[in-house]
Amino acid sequence: MTRLTLVRGDITEQSVDAVVNAANSSLLGGGGVDGAIHRRGGPDILAACRDLRASHYGGGLPTGAAVATTAGRLPARWVIHTVGPVWSAHEDRSALLASCYVRSLAVADELGAATVAFPAISTGVYRWPMEDAARIAVEAVRGAETAVGEVRFVLFDDAAYRAFAARLN
Ligand code: APR
Repeated sequence: MTRLTLVRGDITEQSVDAVVNAANSSLLGGGGVDGAIHRRGGPDILAACRDLRASHYGGGLPTGAAVATTAGRLPARWVIHTVGPVWSAHEDRSALLASCYVRSLAVADELGAATVAFPAISTGVYRWPMEDAARIAVEAVRGAETAVGEVRFVLFDDAAYRAFAARLN
């Protein structure tokens, strides 16, 4: 049974087996979570991402997919990079957002990760409304078949924390 926990804080400070990055398809870094992970994790993460682009992901990592690299200097063993969908008022991309959580847990299972920290994927630059993103995230994790013992949602501000807490309780 997977425990779902909430933390108000910085995902780069979480001592877990795997930290999930809200990446973009280039895998070459960005702002928000992506920027923080590369800044704190150091150059080894970007080097591993470049190797992935040169080998399996020449066209970039598809939205909803997930892939793992070293965590570099982070207090974790792996970073699982996933690409969230950009929110759209005209198209329902909920399945792609749910896929980020389900695919990241599948990668965690392949790695043998027991603890996984997730940010609120797509709720920053990609503009997904927080309450809806929290609903999708919690439902996707609750519905996933995974051996991961703890899924830790790491929320960067009070509004995000409240939105996830409302879904968990
Ligand atoms: N720890 C935890 N959560 C964080 C952190 C952090 N250090 N920094 C930001 N967040 C929160 C944001 O407040 C937001 O709620 O993570 C959530 C996701 O925001 P983004 O990082 O902007 O990710 P996303 O909306 O998925 O957009 C991805 O942004 O940074 C670029 O390269 C990235 O192009 C990609 C896009």
